[in-house]
Amino acid sequence: MSKKYSIVIVGGGSTWTPGLLKALCKRQESFPLRRLVMYDINAGRQAVIGDFARLLFQEEYPELDFSYTTDAGQAFNDVDFVFCQMRTGGYEMREKDEKIPLSLGVIGQETCGPGGFAYGMRSIGDMIELVENVRRSSPEAWILNYTNPAAIVADALRFKFPDDKRILNICDQPVNLLRSYARLLNRDVNEFEPVYFGLNHFGWFTHLYDKAGVDLLPQLKAIISQQGFKPADAEQRDASWLDTYAVVADMLRDFPDYLPNTYLQYYLYPDYKLSKLDPHFTRANEVMAGREKRVFETCREAVQAGSTKGASVVHNDAHGDMIVEVAESIAYNQQRIFVVIVENNGLVNNLDDSAMVEVAATLGINGPRPFGVGNIPVFYKGMIEQQFAYERLTIEAWFEGSYHKALQALTLNRLVVDAKKARKVLDALIEANKDYWPTLK
Ligand code: NAD
Ligand code: G6P
Ligand code: MN
Repeated sequence: MSKKYSIVIVGGGSTWTPGLLKALCKRQESFPLRRLVMYDINAGRQAVIGDFARLLFQEEYPELDFSYTTDAGQAFNDVDFVFCQMRTGGYEMREKDEKIPLSLGVIGQETCGPGGFAYGMRSIGDMIELVENVRRSSPEAWILNYTNPAAIVADALRFKFPDDKRILNICDQPVNLLRSYARLLNRDVNEFEPVYFGLNHFGWFTHLYDKAGVDLLPQLKAIISQQGFKPADAEQRDASWLDTYAVVADMLRDFPDYLPNTYLQYYLYPDYKLSKLDPHFTRANEVMAGREKRVFETCREAVQAGSTKGASVVHNDAHGDMIVEVAESIAYNQQRIFVVIVENNGLVNNLDDSAMVEVAATLGINGPRPFGVGNIPVFYKGMIEQQFAYERLTIEAWFEGSYHKALQALTLNRLVVDAKKARKVLDALIEANKDYWPTLK
């Protein structure tokens, strides 16, 4: 009989939680749980998902000890894995992250440019508090973190907790891309062994081997350049995501070396992306009117009907599957390969050792064993170093309360560049974030 695990989901009221719960149900044989707690600071929001969860587990996981709480002391006792997906400031602040830069002629996006900067400056404090809360009662728990902007959160946690080897920051976009490649090639995603390098939301696949050792990347690049590119779950995606995937073919035409992460388009084609963004109806509005509304309505309706059967609450399988598979690979020392965020230390040989890079790694009981990629060519090195400097200055601005470093950070961001523009955007974001950011002097 395998060991059974105790899990806490932080951000129980997240739009992604129901998908995660379904992924846990799906894997109850291979990754059995003894206890699951949902934790959130917003009781009302979490209760909707929590009541849905209770019903779901009655139906699909009856022996599971399930509860939800806003009490951190209660949540983090006796925990093996923390799955974290919080959003400090909620969609209300995401909307400002997107609209304030746009009102000044700069791209506003959840994790890229000044929007990602503003969000990072909000996430750092709450993520530090979370790690401290967990460590107080569960010093050995694995903290698997999705909270964005993952690049900045990862760098801040590295700096604050340098000796903590059980914090792992992850992103589902590489696996979304791998699943999309699998659909195009009509292959199983589990056959792939990828080689990847970069920062979070800022990386490239350089090879994609199959079990026979054939590199599928050349074939994939040819298909995408000729036929275009769609997400694996295209049928469930909003129009803005379909456009985002389509632009991968443009990136390949201009930079044919590797297969790029979709997020690179904000940095490579800022004029085009700016022209596609509506300053009065941004992605935050699209999510609030779409995913958020749908998830909460569906959960409420299922509870009223007394059954979760047929309730469609999963909008992206990759997200829930990834975090559960990561936990399973660690728990049972499976050494499966995932693309994860780790400290560089020579993995990308010609980049700063302390940068938090995103690369392929096997995951087991000792954590990630990442694969190095050697030296990277000048173009990619230049792109990454500029973004790394922006990210590092952002966390330094937070820890030091430094306006000067915040201004340097935004000036270095490829979506801003002009220092006068950087100052204007920064001042407007400081005003909007005064309840969340440290004071910058
Ligand atoms: P959401 O606003 O629907 O959910 C976030 C939840 O976190 C809310 O219920 C909120 O009350 C709660 N929360 C806020 N601060 C908290 C704190 N300090 N402690 C505990 N709970 C807190 O947002 P969402 O769209 O579902 O996204 C959740 C998070 O997951 C975001 O950070 C998002 O960017 C991230 N995400 C990351 C990836 C990735 O690839 N890394 C993928 C998807 C989502
Ligand atoms: C991808 C990214 C995440 C991002 C998510 C949702 O999966 O990897 O980091 O949070 O998309 O973005 P959305 O705009 O749909 O909320
Ligand atoms: Mn991501």
